[in-house]
Amino acid sequence: MAPRLLQLFFSLCLLFLLRGPSASAKLTLDYYKTSCPRVHEIISDIVTTKQINSPTTAAGTLRLFFHDCFVSGCDASVLISTNHFNVAERDADINLSLPGDAFDVIIRSKTALELQCPGVVSCADILAIATRDLVSMLGGPFYPVRLGRKDSLASSAASVEPNLARPNASIDKIISLFASKGFTVREFVALSGAHTVGFSHCQEYSDRIFNFNKGGHLAFDPTMNPKFAEALQKACANYLKDPTIATFNDIMTPGKFDNLYYQNLLKGLGLLATDQKMAADPRTAPFVRLYAANETAFFEDFSHAMQKLSHYGVKTGRKGEVRRRCDVFNNLSA
Ligand code: HEM
Repeated sequence: MAPRLLQLFFSLCLLFLLRGPSASAKLTLDYYKTSCPRVHEIISDIVTTKQINSPTTAAGTLRLFFHDCFVSGCDASVLISTNHFNVAERDADINLSLPGDAFDVIIRSKTALELQCPGVVSCADILAIATRDLVSMLGGPFYPVRLGRKDSLASSAASVEPNLARPNASIDKIISLFASKGFTVREFVALSGAHTVGFSHCQEYSDRIFNFNKGGHLAFDPTMNPKFAEALQKACANYLKDPTIATFNDIMTPGKFDNLYYQNLLKGLGLLATDQKMAADPRTAPFVRLYAANETAFFEDFSHAMQKLSHYGVKTGRKGEVRRRCDVFNNLSA
């Protein structure tokens, strides 16, 4: 080996020895092989029953997982309840629309697992597995989930907003947000394909369909398909009086995890402003076109990006704990 290469090799070895393997490198596929061998079966049973009884669970859980991971890593910090001393992540404004069914499916899985193998399976791992199972139940890809995450020892509402984007954000801002967490533009576009399922409340896109240019002549965002905009104006007519009104993110196949979301964007049928802008921005548009034309490419990229997301900021060893209850830190639970 040439001396310079040899030097580089030894420096890399030294770096590894000093810093140790990264937390995500410590995750393994068979983490619970001996401590809780039926973990996948137990979660899958709970998740299937829940999704059949409450079909909005899957999309809600996928969003819950994203909001957990992007704020301080995939560590179940979003599941913690607020108490007298601390306002937790789930009570941050942007998280108030996370549906109860998504929290419920994790709590149910945890209860079942505690009966089988108490104190073993972390809430963060349950959320990662449940999300994968639910995506696949909707027709999406089934990807491997490495395990061994610990649950966080902190959860603060104040840390949420800087780590997530609002639908009125610019593509520049979202690209920088994803880049700051190590995600490429391609991965950002692939992950946004999650909007092929679920709902958005009218208030999230009302500025696109009502009084678009503030007193000017445009009734709605001109990048929208006019028929789509009119239908949304009708659906959302009462949204100020009834803020619970929501419409499908993907109007073509709302309950199916497929690539129709990208095809919709090319026809001006994107619901959120950020989604629609992805079809126009030269950095993101090539991937939107690729995924619209090729569902296999979307599923492959989505699987990779979801695995990467599920490793983001994970805590292992003594950096966290396995909570007894997903909504309470162990030192506060009875
Ligand atoms: C890139 C920036 C993103 C923005 C600005 C954004 C924004 C939003 C908004 C405003 C909603 C509607 C919430 C409501 O009204 O209840 C929503 C829903 C949703 N988001 Fe995102 N999102 C983004 C990325 C992602 C990513 C990366 C994922 C997952 C990997 C995701 C998954 C979902 C899902 C599944 C829903 C439907 C939730 C439900 O039906 O309960 N989003 N998003």
